[in-house]
Amino acid sequence: MAKLMREMLLFIKTERLNIESGKAPQLLPKEFTKIKTARVTRGKKFAPRHNEYVASFMDELGNYYQVNDSVARKAFFNALVITCVTCHKEECPGPVRTIQENLF
Ligand code: HEC
Repeated sequence: MAKLMREMLLFIKTERLNIESGKAPQLLPKEFTKIKTARVTRGKKFAPRHNEYVASFMDELGNYYQVNDSVARKAFFNALVITCVTCHKEECPGPVRTIQENLF
């Protein structure tokens, strides 16, 4: 899971720059579906609402790829990043600030 998560952080950072410079989004990262089954580092635990957080993340990722105009793109990007933050507040608070820095 940690490796997948580092890819996710890189993804939102790159995507934020793409939005700012009016570039097309990166290809939908298919490997992000691995979040559904990824296991955590020993000692860490999933929250009781883990599956819900995963589902929201996948929904918002799909929504983000539906929009084109720049205003909606920012809003949907933020909605996606907030699903990262919501899960992180419960499961892994460490990176919350780093993730939030990418919000518009
Ligand atoms: C369903 C819950 C959940 C969602 C959604 C989620 N994360 Fe995570 N994230 C975790 C957990 C749990 C860990 C700890 C993983 C481990 O230690 O194995 C983690 C770890 C991380 C880490 C630290 C990785 C490392 O080097 O140890 C980063 C950075 C991160 N997530 C970024 C993100 C970003 C960016 C998003 C959204 C694009 C996101 N996460 C979405 C649960 C989530």
